[in-house]
This record gives sequence, C-alpha cells and structure tokens, in this order.
Amino acid sequence: MPIFTAPDFDGHEQVVFCHDAETGLRAIIAIHNTTRGPSLGGCRMWPYASEEEALTDALRLSRGMTYKSALAGLPLGGGKSVIIGESRTQKTPALFRAFGRFVESLGGRYIVAEDVGTGVADIEIVRQVTRHVAGTAGGSGDPSPVTAYGVFQGIRAAVKAKLGRDDLAGLRIAVQGLGHVGHDLARQLYEAGALLVVADIDEARVARTAAAYHAEILPADRIHAADVDVFAPCALGAILNDETIPEIQAGIVAGAANNQLAEDRHGEVLRLRGILYAPDYAINAGGIINIHHESFDHYDRAAALKQVEGIYDTLLEIFAHAETEGIPTGTAADRVAESRFRKQQQVA
Ligand SMILES: NC(=O)c1ccc[n+]([C@@H]2O[C@H](COP(=O)([O-])OP(=O)(O)OC[C@H]3O[C@@H](n4cnc5c(N)ncnc54)[C@H](O)[C@@H]3O)[C@@H](O)[C@H]2O)c1
Repeated sequence: MPIFTAPDFDGHEQVVFCHDAETGLRAIIAIHNTTRGPSLGGCRMWPYASEEEALTDALRLSRGMTYKSALAGLPLGGGKSVIIGESRTQKTPALFRAFGRFVESLGGRYIVAEDVGTGVADIEIVRQVTRHVAGTAGGSGDPSPVTAYGVFQGIRAAVKAKLGRDDLAGLRIAVQGLGHVGHDLARQLYEAGALLVVADIDEARVARTAAAYHAEILPADRIHAADVDVFAPCALGAILNDETIPEIQAGIVAGAANNQLAEDRHGEVLRLRGILYAPDYAINAGGIINIHHESFDHYDRAAALKQVEGIYDTLLEIFAHAETEGIPTGTAADRVAESRFRKQQQVA
C-alpha cells in the first residue's frame, strides 16, 4: 500500500507504528507538522476494520490538528494517535503504559490528550511513563464551557460581518444539540439577550435547556430549517448537506460541531446561497486552546479565556479574505492557517 504518495500523507513529518507483543498494543502516532511547536492531538481508540483505515484516520486527524492549532495562533503543531481496539472491552493499564512508552520515545515531539474512546483515566495511566500528556485530571478539566465561549465569540463575529451589529440582543438563534457545549452556549446566548430555539434527540436535555433559558422547542430533524438569524450546529457532523442547505433560513451558520460540511463542495453551496458559514475548526478551537494552557502542569484559565476571545478576530479575518477572493470561508480558513505554518517553515 503506498504511503508517501497517498493523498492523506500530505507531507507528514513522521508516522510511528507502535507494537507491543505483551499487551497486544497496535497503535499509530502521526505527526503532521511541528514548525509552530510540538504536535498535540488526542489518542483515539477504535476497532478499525483494517490497518489502512486506522492509518488514514490518523493521518487526516493529525493534519487537521496542524490547521486548527495554526489558525488558533498556538505554538503547537499537529499530531494524533490511534490505538486499534475496542475501547469498552480491550483497555488495560498495561496497554496504555506500553503506548505511553512510545510517546515518551518521541522526546516531546508529540503530546497526547483524550479523544473518542479514551478518557482522563487513560491519560493518567499514560502519564505514569511520560510527561508529554495534556488534559489530565488535575489540569484544565472539561474543555466544553471554554469551547462554548469560543463559539459564542464566533457567533458575535459572524453577526458583525453579516449584519453589522455588535450585540446579539433580540436575535433569534437555533441551537442543535444540547450536550456539553450546546447547553452552555445556550446559556451564554440567553445572557446576551438572544431568543433561543433548541432541539436535541434527548428529550430530557431539551427540557432542561428550554426551561433554563426560555427557549422555543423544535423537532430535532427540523431545527436546521428554523426561521432564525443564526443556526448553531452543536451535535454531529455532516449536518450541512444537499438535503439541509436548501432549507436553511438563517443567514449565518456558526456552531461547535466538527466536520459540519458533508463534503467540501458544500462550502461553495452555502456561499452561493448567501449563507455565512463560520468554519468549524476555527470556531470550535476553544478546547485545544484550553488544553494548551495546561501543558506545563499548570493551568491558567484567565489566559485561556483571553486567547479564546481571539476567535472573534480570526473569524473576521477569514470572512474578509473569503469576501475579497470570492471563495468559501472554509477555503479561506485553510489559506490563513497554511500561511501561518508555512511562513514559519520558510523562516526555520
Ligand atoms: N466538547 C468540546 O470541547 C468540543 C470541542 C470541539 C468540538 N466539539 C464538537 O462539538 C459537538 C458537540 O460536542 P459535545 O461535547 O457537546 O457533545 P455531547 O455528546 O455532550 O452533546 C451532543 C448532543 O447532541 C445531541 N444530538 C445527537 N444527534 C442529534 C441530532 N440528530 N439532532 C439533535 N441533537 C442531536 C446529543 O443527544 C447530545 O445531547 C461535537 O461535534 C464535538 O465533536 C466539542
């Protein structure tokens, strides 16, 4: 199977295949780019159907981290790791210690945190054998409120760019998904005077948010079509697709969910419909910014929140670039990010 020439390889600096016979560990650590600093990214544990699938996932995710951290202005590069296995049944302390020894062998070029299938308890075990970890129990904790704060700043920026307004008072905003991020985002929007429309597939969550913030309730499969100023997807990915985009009434889409565009081409479909889209990896960077501020066994929440406020300016820069060039905002975000990590590369 070709690796260096595969499209997903995309100039990765280093890919490490980790195997430990005693524990059965099979893992891949992918380091995409370290020109801005050590690579940081979560460790995903997933029962991949094939090794090729695991490698592709690691490569794509680590590349994504380079872009996310560069755009957030962090002195970090992009990396990610995957452990091939079923997280509910195949986790053992020895497995995570074996994985941690591979992380340690990289001497700090890769810093590991949680991801799908791994949690704080697993990272605490990894930490027994390497200090190159983030997102630990005594550190920054749940990043969701900080992510929500970043999304709130991003919505403010989109409202400024699209509607020329500095405040959210009286604006109608639809929040899809009322989990860790969505519920806290609803609180911040409510406190800023927005009128909320909400949906979740979990009725208890809908009831909780609607009662707390006087929100109108819509069915989960209709929230994207709400008659609102802003649609904030905070549930799953691929919500912006051929079926939903023609039904969107909001002039702005700005929310926390990862991979909101079903396909890249949907960025252009949104642009042609005159809908301003806040690129997901730009607006939801609060979590990685938060983790960065605890990287050295010390967590400064005030500094993290201050840096998260920068998402406002980053988005205004992306919107202006997209407008001038007549390109989708996602493409503009990629270009701004690339200029940040490629510029450093030339200097180095
Ligand atoms: N938590 C973070 O700090 C963070 C950081 C960056 C990105 N994100 C992304 O933001 C999104 C939300 O993250 P979270 O931590 O709040 O997750 P979560 O699991 O706590 O909440 C997701 C919510 O979406 C609901 N949901 C699922 N499918 C739905 C549907 N079809 N319609 C309506 N609601 C639906 C779930 O019931 C749940 O309440 C995810 O896409 C996540 O990848 C989260």
